[in-house]
Amino acid sequence: MSNPPSPDRILIFDTTLRDGEQSPGATLNVEEKLVIAKQLARLGVDIIEAGFPFASPGDFEAVQKIAREVGTDTGPTICGLARATKGDIERAGEAIKPAAKGRIHTFIATSDIHMQYKLRKSREEVLAIAPEMVAYAKTFTHDVEFSPEDAGRSDPEFLYQVLEAAIAAGATTVNIPDTVGYLTPSEFGDLIRGIKANVPNIDQAVISVHGHNDLGLAVANFLEAVKAGARQLECTINGIGERAGNAALEELVMAMHVRRAFYNPFLGRSPESEEPLTNIDTRQIYKTSRLVSNLTGMFVQPNKAIVGANAFAHESGIHQDGVLKNKLTYEIMDAQSIGLTDNQIVLGKHSGRNAFRTRLQELGYELDDQALNRAFLRFKELADKKKEITDWDIESIVNDETRQSPEYFHLDLVQVSCGDSAKPTATVTIRTPDGQELMDAAIGTGPVDAVYKAINRVVDIPNQLIEFSVQSVTEGIDALGEVTIRIRHEDRVFAGHAANTDIVVASAHAYLHALNRLYTALQTGQAIHPQRETVTASL
Ligand code: KIV
Ligand code: ZN
Repeated sequence: MSNPPSPDRILIFDTTLRDGEQSPGATLNVEEKLVIAKQLARLGVDIIEAGFPFASPGDFEAVQKIAREVGTDTGPTICGLARATKGDIERAGEAIKPAAKGRIHTFIATSDIHMQYKLRKSREEVLAIAPEMVAYAKTFTHDVEFSPEDAGRSDPEFLYQVLEAAIAAGATTVNIPDTVGYLTPSEFGDLIRGIKANVPNIDQAVISVHGHNDLGLAVANFLEAVKAGARQLECTINGIGERAGNAALEELVMAMHVRRAFYNPFLGRSPESEEPLTNIDTRQIYKTSRLVSNLTGMFVQPNKAIVGANAFAHESGIHQDGVLKNKLTYEIMDAQSIGLTDNQIVLGKHSGRNAFRTRLQELGYELDDQALNRAFLRFKELADKKKEITDWDIESIVNDETRQSPEYFHLDLVQVSCGDSAKPTATVTIRTPDGQELMDAAIGTGPVDAVYKAINRVVDIPNQLIEFSVQSVTEGIDALGEVTIRIRHEDRVFAGHAANTDIVVASAHAYLHALNRLYTALQTGQAIHPQRETVTASL
């Protein structure tokens, strides 16, 4: 058994690669998912929900690869999502097979509104399907999680019956989702207490919670659920996910870290116990947040708790004065506890390959020889333009190198002329998928607009730019600028990201990155959505 029915700490189930990837535009390719999964393992999550294998061959491949490369004996449990159908469960079972510890997470909706309009099934039918599919999943792995989707709006008496049947059929974890982010903290706590009191075999399964942030209450709801007996939290890095997102891993973990004395008694410990409540290495939090933000193109708002750029910044004079005298006057946690370094100046123009590789290792990055060579070249180019290279610059270069979207369109040249008395004009040369080198030029309202128009003349795929942001990686006029963009094509959103000391060049690369992702999606067809697609497959 991988999880005892009642663990003596809180299990962290990370669903960044499944629910998080359901955020519009957050689509990741297989290699990017693998990089994130490896970092999640370093972070110390207990379970990685690596994807929905039935959705597409790409999803299947990602889950299988993560199971093989990250799901080692000492690594996390690797989980695949499956609707309550044989077809989904078989695909999930196959994908998680290489993992030392593999889990199938199967779900079916139990709220009247979902059963009537989405599933078109009666309560009796759902009550029969849930245990039947749990039992089927058990033929692939002993570790089976069952979720009654939209539990937060389900009739509690019916919910108790479904949970009892799922546990009797072998579910080792029962997950309680607030799918639409509707509940308040006290209601969520009561829901968990009700389940503990009314499901006779509940002590044979771990109680898990899953919730969305539509009312901004997901983290508060989970913390209330912990007090009521939940022992597994389903969360995502930076809180990304469907609509307003999921409960944010970093907020949950740091709340329980900073307020350990408050939460200890709910786990039967004395308030003074120093034993961590989770297995998370908090010093990996910041790095994981930056990696996920960079690879998904999901920007982290500056005032975001724990990982936002302003989370440890003190602007007002009174605060600054207090912090200088004693940090604890205005800080409840240390920036270093989430892995924020002092942004040391570490390398310069004369640093060699070895120094670069050593610093990468110290920062926890493992690059293969090819990626290391590319990153070192980028580092040298940057060192020619920028006197002092910091950890954050290195991280930005490495994240750029890790982003491995297939490059159907490659930018060979971008050149811009602009000024207050000139019409912004851009010329681009692009290598197309059939190997042609095409050059074109355009005039725009500004340099970036001109570049995008010139690119559009070569890459003729209609789209609408819906978000464009530039952020500097470090302080100073010579800082790297990171550009994140999102484009819409029909009803799908694609993100692009790039960094360069020249923000016009970064903008051009970010746009091509998004266009390459859009082109890939057009080539490979559309993946199905686990929660919106009706379950029509035969049971
Ligand atoms: O929000 C939800 O209900 C889900 C389920 C698949 C657990 O994501
Ligand atoms: Zn969800």
